[in-house]
Amino acid sequence: MSKQRLLTPYTKNINLNNRVVMAPMTRSRADNKHLAPTDELHGLYYEQRASAGLIITEGAQVSTKASGYIHTPGIYSNEQIEGWKKVTQRVHDKGGKIFIQLWHVGRMSHPDFHNGELPLSASAINPNSKSYTPEGFKETVTPKEMTIEEIKETVKDFQNAAINAVQAGFDGVEIHSSNGYLFHQFFNGTSNKRTDNYGGSIENKTRFFFEVLDAIKEVIAQEKIGARFNPSLDGLFGMTMDKNTIPTFEYIIKKLNDYNLAYVHLSEPFTDVSELSFAVPKIAKHFRPLYNGTLMINTAFDQEKGNKIIEEGHADLVAYGKPYISNPDLVERFKNNLDLAEWDDDTFYTTGAKGYIDYPIASKEII
Ligand SMILES: Cc1cc2nc3c(=O)[nH]c(=O)nc-3n(C[C@H](O)[C@H](O)[C@H](O)COP(=O)(O)O)c2cc1C
Repeated sequence: MSKQRLLTPYTKNINLNNRVVMAPMTRSRADNKHLAPTDELHGLYYEQRASAGLIITEGAQVSTKASGYIHTPGIYSNEQIEGWKKVTQRVHDKGGKIFIQLWHVGRMSHPDFHNGELPLSASAINPNSKSYTPEGFKETVTPKEMTIEEIKETVKDFQNAAINAVQAGFDGVEIHSSNGYLFHQFFNGTSNKRTDNYGGSIENKTRFFFEVLDAIKEVIAQEKIGARFNPSLDGLFGMTMDKNTIPTFEYIIKKLNDYNLAYVHLSEPFTDVSELSFAVPKIAKHFRPLYNGTLMINTAFDQEKGNKIIEEGHADLVAYGKPYISNPDLVERFKNNLDLAEWDDDTFYTTGAKGYIDYPIASKEII
């Protein structure tokens, strides 16, 4: 059993007890006026999952302008820092490691979150999607194209969020440059029609992300920074792939070799991309040879597939999303080859304890 590659320690740049990572997942439990994590809910939820080699928190907005979903916690105020301190303490007390995911949703938002002002994006193009507002789901609107000043302010917001993350006791930060949110809106040709230094060429479309990365590395060691990308996202969150999509991510991943990051975190496709007019490669397999650092892979992995992808050398770490919602003791279940509990998607984004901190620990009963 100890032959499982998932259960072996990982020590490059970051010391992890095993290679099982809890993927970032929005759970919408910060239903308080400060949008702060609470000890009773968030503290317990993350502590229950502390045997993961690494926990990556739910996306935490870096400013009020960055938000687009109800009840998501932020990392821009003192109340939020104090709330996160309790979370990191509880995870550390159990011997775990925890990064916070730094998030700006860009156009995946609604004026209801911004006192009637438009959400920001690379260009004024409506994702034609839905935003989960305090009054329920609403159609997204055409966002405001960010000015250079707004880009600079946002770089600062991310830098401040990283400073706050250190203060809150996190082991590191993950930049959420994935899943159709702000940075992805700059990377993608369908959402970025800018004609300035932030649009057009691949170098220009990725400039903002690298400015943010450079700003964060001024305040936190590079070895404590991760970045997440979803290179084959199509048909979700307003994103459409085209033939420039994979080359854009190839450029980003290769350029990240100039840094010494904690990891690069990639997702395999969320949807079926086999019918597109151009070939979409297997993500881990395609990007592994391009990147010298730690590669984390995610999406639809189970115990067997997770062990296999590490064994084959296509990834170093595997991030599990939904399995971690319903299996707080995922590592122990893998260790003992126990069955996994099913998750209840009705309680993914509801408030309160139900479906959040009440999933049982099988290993306690069985071992
Ligand atoms: C309830 C839920 C919330 C999520 N929230 C986030 C998030 O805040 N940030 C993020 O990068 N991905 C988010 N994701 C995507 C997951 O991190 C992961 O990529 C996805 O669930 C696929 O992995 P899985 O097949 O192991 O579940 C979320 C997924 C779910 C199910």
